[in-house]
Amino acid sequence: MAFEYPTDQVQKYFVAGDVAMSHVVAMLSAMFPNGEDFFVRSVRSWRDDITDAHLRDQVRGFIGQEAMHGREHRELNDRLAAMGYPTKGVEKLVDRSLRFRERIQGRRANLAVTAALEHYTATLAETLLSNEEARAMFDVPEVRSLFLWHALEESEHKAVAFDVYRNTGGGERLRRLMMNVTTALFLLALVGTTTVSILKDPTARRHPVRLARSLAGLRRSPFVTGDVARRIRDYNRPGFHPDDHDAAELVERWRSELFGTDGSLTSRLKTA
Ligand SMILES: [Fe+2]
Ligand SMILES: [Fe+2]
Repeated sequence: MAFEYPTDQVQKYFVAGDVAMSHVVAMLSAMFPNGEDFFVRSVRSWRDDITDAHLRDQVRGFIGQEAMHGREHRELNDRLAAMGYPTKGVEKLVDRSLRFRERIQGRRANLAVTAALEHYTATLAETLLSNEEARAMFDVPEVRSLFLWHALEESEHKAVAFDVYRNTGGGERLRRLMMNVTTALFLLALVGTTTVSILKDPTARRHPVRLARSLAGLRRSPFVTGDVARRIRDYNRPGFHPDDHDAAELVERWRSELFGTDGSLTSRLKTA
């Protein structure tokens, strides 16, 4: 896959013209590449311990997909940086923090963190794929395509890191503990980087009323609903498995919508 962003067509507030949501999405995109590299390292470090041949295949697919997401988001992040978003600094910050965690915690904990974050990406992805209102916010075509493609693959491979964790003997207590730690750190990172990003934005500073309205509007975002919160929290239920939230039909529909015979992204597939 490859996306190209027209230099002069992407407006600063590229998510529905909304100040706050544009900063939030920019910061999420900034967190993806090095976050995904961390997922790949975490899962890869267990590759030789996986006994199930089918799961090994899935791991190969997972690693390929995450590497590709990282590459495409880095490119969007370059473009966002040129538009004034501090995406490059956030990329570095995420890399440094994750590498620090890898130094102080073991590979079992890394894998549990990966499984927890994959639950976040899958929940956000399935919200995007199933909610028309959520999709309508992504009104810049190239950005919309990137996020739809990424969302589809996140939903597709949502159980892989989790299954590696369980298949290699990962326990429920560490799984839940790491989910709680990850939730706190992820929310802190998202709120913190978004705040800095907005503070550094001269246009946002010049229009405080517009900014205040936009920030207040975040509470009505289709990504911040009781249903999303319930889905996230469900991870801590004893015996939870990502496929308990069945998305097979959703994945199939979007696979064909994006990559079917008349799929909107079919022509973008690079034939290697
Ligand atoms: Fe990804
Ligand atoms: Fe993923």
